[in-house]
Amino acid sequence: MMVQKIIKRNWLLLLFMGLTSLQACYYDVVIEAGEATTQTRSFSSDVLPILKSTCVSCHEGTTTLPDLRDANAYKSIVRGNYVSVSDPENSALIQKIRSGHPYSNALTESEIQRIVGWIKEGAQNN
Ligand code: HEC
Repeated sequence: MMVQKIIKRNWLLLLFMGLTSLQACYYDVVIEAGEATTQTRSFSSDVLPILKSTCVSCHEGTTTLPDLRDANAYKSIVRGNYVSVSDPENSALIQKIRSGHPYSNALTESEIQRIVGWIKEGAQNN
């Protein structure tokens, strides 16, 4: 009885408290979504296709390193220290590419920019 009375008398306050806590959740979600939309490059859709079409023929994991096959490319590049998030253009990977490697099939500037962009955005496994 007592509890019901309290609820009856304070329903507006309870409603307000409920809405306030919901609002807190709402803002959390909005902030996360905002961060996610700043990612314009992804490893799987910007970098992997280039490696696959231009690099894997030689970098197939047995003789020529880094191993750039789909399943291993991210690990090889990041753990092998081929990318520098704080200075993307100075990444070993970009410098190698900018040197004209592979001479038989050099990347276009826009392909290079896609890889540089991915490094700038944190070189994530995304
Ligand atoms: C025709 C074969 C061939 C192709 C295609 C090729 N590479 Fe290479 N890559 C090599 C060889 C051989 C070496 C080792 C000799 C050297 O450093 O040039 C090498 C070395 C490298 C290195 C330096 C490794 C180290 O630790 O010093 C990187 C980075 C690299 N390649 C990235 C790439 C990328 C990215 C692509 C595609 C855009 C690519 N390669 C395409 C043959 C190739």
